[in-house]
Amino acid sequence: MKQITVLMLCVGLLYGCKTHQRSSVTENDLLKAISQQLAYLPLLKDTTNLKSKDLIFPRTLTESGKLVLVSKRDWTSGFYPGVLWNMYRLTGDKQWKEKAELYTALLTSEQYNSSNHDLGFKMMPSFGLGYEATNNEAYKKVLIQAAKTLITRFNENVGCIRSWDHNRDKWEFPVIIDNLMNLELLFWASKETGNPVFYNIAVAHAKTTMRNHFRENYSSFHVVGYNLETGAVISKNTHQGYADSSSWSRGQAWALYGYTMIYRETKDLAFLNQAENIANYIINVAKLPEDLVPFWDFDLPDLKSEPRDASAAAVMASAFFELSKYTSQHKDTYLHLANSMLNSLTSKQYFSELGTNNGFLLKHSTGSKPKNSEIDVPLVYADYYYLEALFRKNQIQNQLN
Ligand code: GLY
Repeated sequence: MKQITVLMLCVGLLYGCKTHQRSSVTENDLLKAISQQLAYLPLLKDTTNLKSKDLIFPRTLTESGKLVLVSKRDWTSGFYPGVLWNMYRLTGDKQWKEKAELYTALLTSEQYNSSNHDLGFKMMPSFGLGYEATNNEAYKKVLIQAAKTLITRFNENVGCIRSWDHNRDKWEFPVIIDNLMNLELLFWASKETGNPVFYNIAVAHAKTTMRNHFRENYSSFHVVGYNLETGAVISKNTHQGYADSSSWSRGQAWALYGYTMIYRETKDLAFLNQAENIANYIINVAKLPEDLVPFWDFDLPDLKSEPRDASAAAVMASAFFELSKYTSQHKDTYLHLANSMLNSLTSKQYFSELGTNNGFLLKHSTGSKPKNSEIDVPLVYADYYYLEALFRKNQIQNQLN
């Protein structure tokens, strides 16, 4: 009970504080509260004799609140190690490093998994953050192999990395907007190895996507289907959004984050322009709700009883922190928005009470409403990007001080 009061107090404090005026005491209190909450996620003690299909990585909760664990093959498997690495870089506490190392090691064989595009999602939060924190050469090798595996999915006719192999009756060569996130692994590999092939493929994918995935107002379709011989666009659909013509909220978040990261890696102003146009769509056209946490799609005809997607807000907050560094004109707008989103996610409305939700931090995310899957639940990637946003906020504040 006492612990719950501490959490609510510091969450309340953080939410109540004005942007840029939060004291470091409150920051520490929040990190303490986050650490206490994460302790409720059941960590493996013994990882010997694990099999490939074992369900070990926390992903979400069922409707009745039961913990859902997934195997290393799931697209979300890298985020739990990523949560642990984020906690290590936020706190410097070695206990997080030990846990992160344990969970990262469990993903090692995924470096060869070429069955979909998700290598970046899996390997950058786990091995990528791990390498940044430790310079462990073994992590570097895994990441380079993962990048090699990812580029086997590139098709020159299309100019993109193929996203999925499933639903072949529906798509000959599907590319989803989420795929931009995987390019970070290729930019990383190009810098580390000096091999331009990774870079060139990432840039080709980014340019093709910029050409074909966006509407005039810079909202994004979810899935673009290509002809794999000619590279012609065959279809523009949704898979997780409300309609083909609507803007699935997390898709817009991936787009914003994606082009911000691609600008960081290329310094090509066309990509910065794209990120800023997407930001303008999110801020001025789509219109976020008052608490800045989007409903699961921006074009729902009736919002009554529709769930939010806190994961989209967490991804956007993290992206807006980064984008604020690349523009003087909109810097204050993006920073204010990122801080306000983070504060909203840290409020009672979205932040789990201590000991509830099996240790997940954020409530009210939506995985796939059309598939009736993971509706209004915690999701591990919401927690990952929330912690990354906190880290980026700290970095920016430290540079200001
Ligand atoms: N990349 C899958 C998703 O955002 O749900």
